[in-house]
Amino acid sequence: MTITTVARLAEHDGETVTIRGWLQNRRSKGKIAFLLIRDGSGTVQCVALKKNFDEEFFDKLTSLPYESAVIVTGPAKADERAPGGVEMQVDSLEIVSVSEEYPISNQEHGPDFLLSNRHLWLRSSKQVAIMRIRDEVIRAIRDFFHERDFINVDSPIFTPNACEGTSELFEVQYTEDELAYLSQSGQLYNEAAAMAYGKVYCFGPTFRAEKSKTRRHLREFWMCEPEMAYADLEDVMDLSEDFLCYIAQRVVAHRKHELEVLERDISKLESIRKPFPRLSYEEATEKMREHGHEFEFGNDFGAPDETFVSSLYDSPVMVHRYPHEIKAFYMKRDPQDDRFALGVDVLAPEGYGEIIGGGQREDDLETLRARIQAHELPEEAFEWYLDLRRYGSVPHGGFGLGLERTVAWMCGIEHIREAIPFPRMLYRIYP
Ligand code: 4AD
Ligand code: MG
Repeated sequence: MTITTVARLAEHDGETVTIRGWLQNRRSKGKIAFLLIRDGSGTVQCVALKKNFDEEFFDKLTSLPYESAVIVTGPAKADERAPGGVEMQVDSLEIVSVSEEYPISNQEHGPDFLLSNRHLWLRSSKQVAIMRIRDEVIRAIRDFFHERDFINVDSPIFTPNACEGTSELFEVQYTEDELAYLSQSGQLYNEAAAMAYGKVYCFGPTFRAEKSKTRRHLREFWMCEPEMAYADLEDVMDLSEDFLCYIAQRVVAHRKHELEVLERDISKLESIRKPFPRLSYEEATEKMREHGHEFEFGNDFGAPDETFVSSLYDSPVMVHRYPHEIKAFYMKRDPQDDRFALGVDVLAPEGYGEIIGGGQREDDLETLRARIQAHELPEEAFEWYLDLRRYGSVPHGGFGLGLERTVAWMCGIEHIREAIPFPRMLYRIYP
């Protein structure tokens, strides 16, 4: 007997096949039972006729609890009216396990209840669609860089020092008398890798001890970080633009069905085209003033400011050259205007906020040393990083893309907690 999956059922039109899954829904009409079976690859309607089973078994079938595990064998039949374009007749059905009463129903559940049942919630159609889109984004990311001759060089998770400021560090007892920190960004190691291999990217989990509970923050999230030797801020902006267009096009091309399940307005993703507007921080604050949006020059953008600036455009917008005081120690100053750092944030449309942060790095040894001192960072811990400026320093830069924010944007979902299988948030680590 051919064992197949729901996703491949249409390839077996007219053949008798077996699928292995779970009962998602059912209804019966006298002599017929309609069983909706999901197997992770999709959902198929299976039709069981009473006359083909003994009465006791048929009764059991029509009262089988949701999420019971079943193996169904029968002929696959193309049928335009059926969801997915294919149906199955049930010749035989094996009940692998009878489920207890399933806690998640079709009724509305509150977010706390769903998050506490995340291990089960993952089975729901919407969550399946989100995870498939996440998988597509991950593949698109890797393909994008490999097509452009970047190599994947991952950075460590245990680190001896901070990268993105010391207030959001997770400390771990590394040895009896030594502390380490969970990585906030692979960037510093990426810079070493770029000097070794030219064009690199790292892609892995990163950790921020965020104290804020917002729809854009996780304490553990995935970041993809490219880094290029012999590159300046313009190169970094060009790469971010190509990157986001590539991701959006791939999701639209390969995940239409999932976007439909999520009721995503696909035209919003289809219209992501370069060039993206590029505004300096000064220009962006000028726009805020023009439109009467209150903002104090010199501050970092908060979520409402990002939302305001991005609401002026349909595509992502790049804001570059921020006041250096609000940016990390490693950013190179603008040689044209020392008040600003050569950094860029890319703000996603539709209120998804900053999805990319990056820029050009300080490449001068003495300037960088002075920055480390000014930021009161432990110089010894950064000696290796300073070495990169001692031995063949070149202009270089890169960025970090937050995977979950990107996935949330692609999916059009409200909160990034649904864009990762098991979200880690303030006051929530179960399950
Ligand atoms: O802007 P960030 O902090 O930049 C860096 O870490 C740089 N070192 C990256 C680089 O240049 N290689 O973070 C980059 C992105 C943000 O734009 C956002 O998308 C995401 O990471 N991000 C978060 N996503 C979810 N939850 C959080 N708490 C996040 N913090 C940042
Ligand atoms: Mg940032």
